Amino acid sequence: MKGYCRVCPVCDGRACAGEVPGMGGLGTGRSFSANLESLAAVRFNMRLVHDVSEPDTRIDFLGHSLAMPLLAAPIGGVAFNMGEKISEAAYISAVLGGCAETGILGCVGDGVPDFIHQSGYDAIKSLDGKGIPFIKPWKDAEFFEKVDKALAAGATVIGMDIDAAGLITLKQMGRPVSPRSPKRLGEIIHQVKVPFILKGVMTVADARMAVDAGARAIVVSNHGGRVLDHTPGAADVLPEIADAVKGQIAILADGGVRTGGDVLKMLALGADAVMIGRPFSVAAVGGLKEGVSRYIQGVAGELKAAMILTGTAGADSVDRAILRM
Ligand SMILES: Cc1cc2nc3c(=O)[nH]c(=O)nc-3n(C[C@H](O)[C@H](O)[C@H](O)COP(=O)(O)O)c2cc1C
Repeated sequence: MKGYCRVCPVCDGRACAGEVPGMGGLGTGRSFSANLESLAAVRFNMRLVHDVSEPDTRIDFLGHSLAMPLLAAPIGGVAFNMGEKISEAAYISAVLGGCAETGILGCVGDGVPDFIHQSGYDAIKSLDGKGIPFIKPWKDAEFFEKVDKALAAGATVIGMDIDAAGLITLKQMGRPVSPRSPKRLGEIIHQVKVPFILKGVMTVADARMAVDAGARAIVVSNHGGRVLDHTPGAADVLPEIADAVKGQIAILADGGVRTGGDVLKMLALGADAVMIGRPFSVAAVGGLKEGVSRYIQGVAGELKAAMILTGTAGADSVDRAILRM
């Protein structure tokens, strides 16, 4: 099974370390495992003497009302990264469909073969715009061609995974991707016109640049550990980023989130909403739309339970004091 997902009991990057292509983290896999370790190191203060018995998990996110603060992260190339057990079209319509059915949003990834983004945009179209495309930092002509296609499919928000500038898979295929200067980023965001999300922010400096450039949201993310070995986990850097820019820009975070408890930890560390990646791929390959919906329902149940046990009334106002820091 080398190179493909082994569907481990806990998806922590150990069995698949170094498997990029594949579902793993780059190199030693330490950036992937740092995501899980940084979340595991966070503990809850358990509180039961309060009046929260029906917590409200709903949030508003860039004009979308979500049943809970969760999005399926953009994952492109599942067909070949999971061993051709499912077509890209069947995969992405299962993810976006399961998300729409349960009142959350799914995202669409990008890659070298056109069928990756094309099947994502087709799925967004069939769901009346319910999905967020993330486009890689290609040369401008290709980037804006994809923006136009995504908008034509009905997308109302566009993301760029700027950290894909480090993806070895794209380098291996000879396709140029690159970072953007603060000035150029501002021009791109201005030109895109709909709300723009910058994904792959791991420092306060980049978060401030995203605010200054006019982005509406950032994703605190090390791309699931797939672009640079030996980064911190997302939950390690989230508090300092939130301290710097919370309220000026919506903050998403991903990496190693597996349960509703993990979702609540990320919210308490400063995120407004959270993304989950690989477990959605497993759910979709294993059970298509039904598998995705069931996974989301499980996370929703865990989130509600954790909110009750920490005395958290609303997902839009989670107090860092629920954590033992
Ligand atoms: C196989 C694979 C493909 C991915 N493709 C994309 C992509 O096309 N665009 C993107 O922004 N992120 C992509 N990611 C990163 C995810 O969006 C997300 O940041 C990461 O998977 C979160 O970590 P988790 O899987 O531990 O939850 C990919 C991740 C994996 C494992």
